[in-house]
Amino acid sequence: MSERSMSYQPPRGMRDFYPEDMALRDAIFDAWIAASRQHGFARYDSCVVESLALLKRKGGEEIVDQIYAFKDKSGRDLALRPEMTPSLARMIAARQNGLTFPLKWSTIAQCFRYERMTKGRRREHYQWNLDVVGEDSVAAEAEVLSAAVSALKLMGLKRTDFKILVNNRALVADMLEQANIEHQHHASVFLALDKRGKLDDDKVAELLEADGLDKKAISAALGITGVNSLDGAAQVVGQTNSALTRLRDLLELCRHYGFEDAIQFDISVVRGLDYYTGIVFEAFDAQRQFRAIFGGGRYDNLLANVGGKPMSGVGMGFGDVVIAEVLAAMPPVHPDPEPLGTAVGFLEEAQRSTATSVAATLRSRGQNVDLALQPQKAKPFFSRAAKNRRAEAIFIGPDDVAKHKVRVKDLATRQEREAEIDDL
Ligand code: HAM
Repeated sequence: MSERSMSYQPPRGMRDFYPEDMALRDAIFDAWIAASRQHGFARYDSCVVESLALLKRKGGEEIVDQIYAFKDKSGRDLALRPEMTPSLARMIAARQNGLTFPLKWSTIAQCFRYERMTKGRRREHYQWNLDVVGEDSVAAEAEVLSAAVSALKLMGLKRTDFKILVNNRALVADMLEQANIEHQHHASVFLALDKRGKLDDDKVAELLEADGLDKKAISAALGITGVNSLDGAAQVVGQTNSALTRLRDLLELCRHYGFEDAIQFDISVVRGLDYYTGIVFEAFDAQRQFRAIFGGGRYDNLLANVGGKPMSGVGMGFGDVVIAEVLAAMPPVHPDPEPLGTAVGFLEEAQRSTATSVAATLRSRGQNVDLALQPQKAKPFFSRAAKNRRAEAIFIGPDDVAKHKVRVKDLATRQEREAEIDDL
């Protein structure tokens, strides 16, 4: 290659998007934006340049090594963001008193990581983020997963084209406790388990040895990945273990959404980022030919760590690189047109399953649906629906379930019509 033509290349790991490349990128972004809207997530954005101190404090060890860091002309230590989550925590902590929780936020962020260039890994990528902050129940995990599944569908993937592996770090932590591995080592065990499959077991064992684990503890830590079902995990930690119960609750909820067949428990999924404390998940193409399509989980300490009030959240990141590879290996598809908005809420816990099924049915018909995460009284439900400018609202109480009917309220005209649940 001549010097001149070499100068036309973007820096290693960076990408140019010519108009013909933008069609695919737009289709991916359109699906992300439509799925965010369909699930009632509000969009936000932040700056690509962040303070290095924030990223170092918040990022996983792996990411910190990959940061593009520099000093500005006044000597401030800055960096290109490797992920959006620390900026999200900073933004929420800054306005924690004024925001309404639980909040559901979404963004598409360009992220930069100076990492080894392999299949599915660039030094720059766009990452769709969904986060639900201020909701302790697994309803938050379920909504995030439902939106991600919708995005995959809008891109033309069928249910059999992908699988979502879920685990709970708290469950693995309980197993490590059973194996007498102290809490101080858990973060390094998670990091080491995350590297399994990328590194051979001897290398993983070396990492654990460097953290001070003895041979017995290392073999116990690696042995945990032999557990391959929730019942198998129950044999180690007991049927009533709370981390296990959360996984079971999540699977049950996914059943009402109608995508439980895409979900699989996998004890080896622990994720490489430090801040996850609960349920974690990663999605792959069915044949597992490519790297993770998206990944995320629950974090409990992120806001408190940036100086905010303690608040639990769940989020996921879904990059444009791996999905583009997956789509390129499939016949071309066109994204579905954008749907309209309905809010669905329910009075008591007993009506959650009906509300979830109603939301899932409407979404499957192409409507935007903001499903309440918790039971609530009618007044706050309708005022939130109006504030979020939903076109229609369905509020489900015990009588509706008994009659197997719902009342669909047009929020502009305030007219109500009744509909059989089966006829929705
Ligand atoms: P992550 O697993 O590091 O999570 O990244 C999420 C997704 O971004 C990956 O599954 C992959 O699709 C894509 N991705 C990451 N690094 C690269 C790369 N170098 N090249 C191409 N694609 C990449 C996070 O970043 C978390 N902050 C996600 C999250 C949001 N958790 C809670 N909220």
